[in-house]
Amino acid sequence: MKILTVAGARPQFIKVAAVSRILRTKATEVLVHTGQHYDANMSDIFFEELDIPYPNYNLGISGGTHGHMTGAMLSAIEDILIIEKPDVLLVYGDTNSTLAAALAAVKLQIPVCHVEAGNRLGTFSNPEEINRICTDHVATLLLSCTQSGMDFLKKENLGSRSKLVGDPMYDAFIYYGEKSANRAVCDLVDFSGKKIDIPEMYYYLTCHREENTKNDEALKEIFIAMNSLDALTIYPVHPRNKERAERLCYENNFKNIILAQPVGYLTSIYLIKHAKKVVSDSGGVQREAFFAKKPSVTIFDYIGWPETMVNNCNILSKANATEILEKLSINPCFDDDYKPFGDGHASEKIVKELLKM
Ligand code: UD1
Ligand code: UDP
Repeated sequence: MKILTVAGARPQFIKVAAVSRILRTKATEVLVHTGQHYDANMSDIFFEELDIPYPNYNLGISGGTHGHMTGAMLSAIEDILIIEKPDVLLVYGDTNSTLAAALAAVKLQIPVCHVEAGNRLGTFSNPEEINRICTDHVATLLLSCTQSGMDFLKKENLGSRSKLVGDPMYDAFIYYGEKSANRAVCDLVDFSGKKIDIPEMYYYLTCHREENTKNDEALKEIFIAMNSLDALTIYPVHPRNKERAERLCYENNFKNIILAQPVGYLTSIYLIKHAKKVVSDSGGVQREAFFAKKPSVTIFDYIGWPETMVNNCNILSKANATEILEKLSINPCFDDDYKPFGDGHASEKIVKELLKM
């Protein structure tokens, strides 16, 4: 069986790492990197650290408007599908790379398997929601990480094509967790490339959503909150808002925020595990904080991962300094027996379902 996998963004490389390791023992995999994320610390570092096989194709498509990026990917992926003739197209998550690949395959009557199917925010103001819904509706096999994802799929009459498998991000967290245990793996550097010492006590911040970075307003509110906390904040900055983050910190003298270059997966997991609390707008980071039993506040208007929100483990906040501080002052209660993201073997289940297709 020949599976063609398309990935292009940081969180997808992590999911590919977990699944491909098993998939390649049972089937032939052709890996296509769209090029959506291309800086070494947004792409290469994940392939190196997580032993992901080198992609068979790299399309080198990135940036621009959503339509231009998705359209260019659609056209280039179609050409590859025609050459490779895979039995199944495998895609992950909700990026423009996911949607472009799913559309290219379904138009060629190639069955699509979508991993991380069923997440819904309930608004098209979020660009990823459009990608998720369109991908789910053209897919033949929908593999969901959680029961809430399954419930959304059933509501949209997609239940008969859907299966609950668990979260490959949880698999990765467990499998690579050991490697991230040592502070020596941490590679935290500032924008000039100078090594940053990790303080004993710190908060971990990630922020990259279009909704929180398209103007100064939201990011400044987040920085006001983080700057006034009782410990420093470590913030590895996504390239989309490097200029804005640097300028806001400089103009407002936010001395308690340590801006760093994006880090690799092992460093990110280390920083989550050892932080006082985590503040993020990332789908992946809010789950990883939950896996690590670390209290977190998610800066967003919509709930993405409801299972993380029980007992205040992860609390939603608007991008408002007062609200963020109020939410950060709440202490959650983690239940060791509650495991809504599966048993750490989602990847095996994903491969099993793929082979049945
Ligand atoms: C994308 C996904 C989002 C995911 C995120 C993971 C879409 C619509 N969104 O958002 O779901 O959470 O990836 O991080 O696909 N850039 C660089 N260097 C890079 C990568 C990006 O400079 O290595 C710049 C791009 O040129 C672009 C901007 O950052 O101008 C945004 O990148 P893009 O891939 O469009 O969206 P993300 O915000 O990364
Ligand atoms: N991450 C990373 N380096 C960073 C920031 C995040 O490796 O500088 C990891 C993080 O631990 C998680 C994944 O990237 O595993 C989440 O990706 P991102 O936040 O970019 O996307 P999302 O999950 O929101 O789609």
